[in-house]
Amino acid sequence: MNIEQITPVFAGDVSGVDITQPLSRDDLAALEAGMDRYGVLVFHQQKLTDDTQRAFTRNFGTLEASPGGNITQLHERRLPLDMQDASNLDKDQKPLPRDDRRRMFNLGNRLWHSDSSYRATPAKYSLLSGRVVVEKGGHTEFADMRAAYDALDAATKTEIEDLVSEHSLIFSRGSLGFTELSEAEKAMFKPVRQRLVRTHPVTGRKSLFLSSHAGSILGWPVPEARAFLRDLNEHATQNQFVYSHKWRQWDLVMWDNRQTMHRVTRFDETQVRDMRRTTVAGDAMTVAQAA
Ligand SMILES: [Fe+2]
Repeated sequence: MNIEQITPVFAGDVSGVDITQPLSRDDLAALEAGMDRYGVLVFHQQKLTDDTQRAFTRNFGTLEASPGGNITQLHERRLPLDMQDASNLDKDQKPLPRDDRRRMFNLGNRLWHSDSSYRATPAKYSLLSGRVVVEKGGHTEFADMRAAYDALDAATKTEIEDLVSEHSLIFSRGSLGFTELSEAEKAMFKPVRQRLVRTHPVTGRKSLFLSSHAGSILGWPVPEARAFLRDLNEHATQNQFVYSHKWRQWDLVMWDNRQTMHRVTRFDETQVRDMRRTTVAGDAMTVAQAA
């Protein structure tokens, strides 16, 4: 197995390994070390099924199950509960209509975010398999939150060190004007607290924990918090911190949500784009939650 760094700051291209098959202890250790170092790993020509994707994912921890992350009802689901549907399709494999409520909700993925930052225990890794990809657009862009943190000036680093922000799908969807949520959905999307600066448990590197789900900072007036979060997001997503992945069918991209943000770019949504995600649950909250 070989990992080649893609940009000057992060992301690795992996070759010489077949992740559809059980892996040796050494290969797994090399992949874990690769994740710690590069934040994003890209694999090509991995013909995964839902079962082999889940089996590969379980090498890195427990699968995160979906409830609480979407407005799609159980009976509308296309994929098993422990997989996240990142496609634009309904249960009958047809693209969702333009004004479909689920599609409008999913458009939130066009905003920079860290997966499950709206959960009290946010996600560790996400693994996205390109089963059917589109020819134009639909790239997944990643930003390295460690490099972004490193580039902050000393005064800003000191100021943000112990700040806590609140994350919710209500904020991210609301920022796109999608506000028609039922009372049950609002209760499900109750904001959670997250540290603004995280420290990686293995490497000890600090990173900015930003996400479109973040809508306030504890102790700050809301407009001031949102303006500041916007400044930090603009800083953190400058070109030098970003890798844009242009999908080929059977690519598998895995990323560390503790160290990176990502978003999908626009594409023709009358085309089928079948992307399936598995998620490795995190193992700790970043800060205690409100009582
Ligand atoms: Fe995502």
